[in-house]
Amino acid sequence: SLNELEVRLITDSTNEALKSEGFAHNKLVVAEYQSAGRGRRGRQWVSPIASNLYLSLGWKTQLPVQQLGGLSLVVGLAIVNALKQLGVKDVEVKWPNDIRYQGRKLGGILVELSGDMVGGLNVIIGVGLNVHMASVAADSIDQDWINLQELKPDISRQAVLINVIKQLQSHLEQFSSEGFESFQADWRQVDECFNKKVSILQGDDVINGVGAGVDTNGAFLLQTGKGIKPVYAGEVSLRFR
Ligand code: BTN
Repeated sequence: SLNELEVRLITDSTNEALKSEGFAHNKLVVAEYQSAGRGRRGRQWVSPIASNLYLSLGWKTQLPVQQLGGLSLVVGLAIVNALKQLGVKDVEVKWPNDIRYQGRKLGGILVELSGDMVGGLNVIIGVGLNVHMASVAADSIDQDWINLQELKPDISRQAVLINVIKQLQSHLEQFSSEGFESFQADWRQVDECFNKKVSILQGDDVINGVGAGVDTNGAFLLQTGKGIKPVYAGEVSLRFR
C-alpha cells in the first residue's frame, strides 16, 4: 500500500518533486498542473490544469539496474489493466512507454533513477494520462493524441487514479518477485508493434525491421534481414513506417 500521498495543485514536474523534495518508497505525488512536465528524451509533456492525470510513484528496488529494462512495459500493462477494469478496452502500448488507442497517444510513462545506490535504487515512475485535455493546450501537442473521455464520456478521474495506483502496486510486486519474464505473454496482448513495420532511430542511424515482441528483459526485438536484433530503450525512438 502507499506510504504517503501528496496532492499538489501546482508543481514543476511530479517526477522532479519526488526526486528533489524527499524521495520515499511507495510515496505518490499527484498534481493538477505541471509547469515543466517532461516526457522521454528531453521532451515537454503538455500539462494543463485540472484536465488530466499527472502522477509519480517512488519505488525502491534491490533489482540490479540491468533488470529494470522491462519496468516501463510493466507500468504500461498496469495502466492498460486499470483502464480495462473501467470499461476502456483495446488500449495498447507502443514500446517502451507510450499508452495508445488506435495509434493515438493517450498517455506516457517516464521512469527515472535517482540518488546513490545504498540500499537499492530509487526509481521514480511517472505517468501522464490524457483525461479531458483543456483545449487551450491541445494545439501545442506535436503528435496525434486522444482523451480518455472520448473513449468513455462518464469516466471519473478519481476512479482512474485509484485503479492505476492499485494495478501499479500489484504489477510492481510481481515484477520484483518474478521479473519481467512473468509478463512476457501479457505484453504480447498489448504490443502495438507486433508484426508491424517499424524503424528504430538511434542518433543518425535508422534500422528498419518488423516488430517481433520483446525478450525476457523487455528489450524490443526487431526482425531485420540479418536476423533478430534486440533493441534497448536508452535513447532510441521507434517509428512506424
Ligand atoms: C512520454 O511519453 O514521453 C512520457 C510522459 C510522462 C509524463 C508524466 S506526467 C507525470 C510525470 N511528471 C513528469 O514531468 N512527467 C511524467
